[in-house]
Amino acid sequence: MSDKIIDGKAIAATIKLEIAKEVAAMIDADIKAPHLAAVIVGDDAASQTYVASKERASTQVGITSSVYRLPANCSETQLLETIDFINNDPEVDGFIVQLPLPAHIDSNRVIERIDPDKDVDGFHPYNIGRMQLGLPTYLPATPYGIMELLKRSQVEVRGKHVVVLGRSNIVGTPMSVLLSRKAENADATVTLCHSRTADIPALTRQADILIAAIGQQEFVKADMVKEGAVVIDVGIHRVADPSSPKGYRLTGDVDYEAVSKKASKITPVPGGVGPMTIVSLLQNTLLAAKKKMI
Ligand code: GUN
Repeated sequence: MSDKIIDGKAIAATIKLEIAKEVAAMIDADIKAPHLAAVIVGDDAASQTYVASKERASTQVGITSSVYRLPANCSETQLLETIDFINNDPEVDGFIVQLPLPAHIDSNRVIERIDPDKDVDGFHPYNIGRMQLGLPTYLPATPYGIMELLKRSQVEVRGKHVVVLGRSNIVGTPMSVLLSRKAENADATVTLCHSRTADIPALTRQADILIAAIGQQEFVKADMVKEGAVVIDVGIHRVADPSSPKGYRLTGDVDYEAVSKKASKITPVPGGVGPMTIVSLLQNTLLAAKKKMI
């Protein structure tokens, strides 16, 4: 792959080997393998795919995985009881509740019910507060994966102007916090754009590093990108494509064909940010298991 393309799949594979080695060492020392659980409510196709990928990746590195499936019409109480059960299960080191949840369930209440020590998504307000303060915690998987991707692709972040598109709790907001923190491979100046931002292209054109997490297919066009910018595409969209065996292809929030001609480095979709998100979750699970060992 050319130097321009940030190969998330290859970087994720390297990190997986590092994790597998650590897990093997734990097992050699008669310590049980880390255990990651996922809770999934309903049958949203994308969520099913994400959870299946997380299970597959866990198995690859020797992490035990389990999935709790609840029907789309389950009550909030049933979900909270499931969370209480997992919180109290000493076998499980970390778990996630796959989002989005059905509309009748209050996601905030659900996230707050997760034991912060097992919150490997890093979504609990306690862990978000610790992240904000720069204290040790679980970092949300996608922003954590992107930080790792930048570091391992030798992208200097310090003093750079990073423009983040999208202010979601899962990606954009924590991304802006991690990049602007006073820390190694951070110290960037961050502009966080959202649906009320005036003249987004005028801002993106100033970006040394552009992170697109806006959830709109091919939103970032070539004329919105500065020559030589580093472009990170967090989006993932299915586009009908009769010529593909699956009947669709995947695309991101960036018009890859055109933008890749201007960017100095760019992540593809698929094979960019996606594999890094999963690997970050595995890293957090390993961390959760190790904390119990101390
Ligand atoms: N839905 C989309 N991304 C994520 C994620 O990182 N964690 C969870 N729990 N749900 C998601």
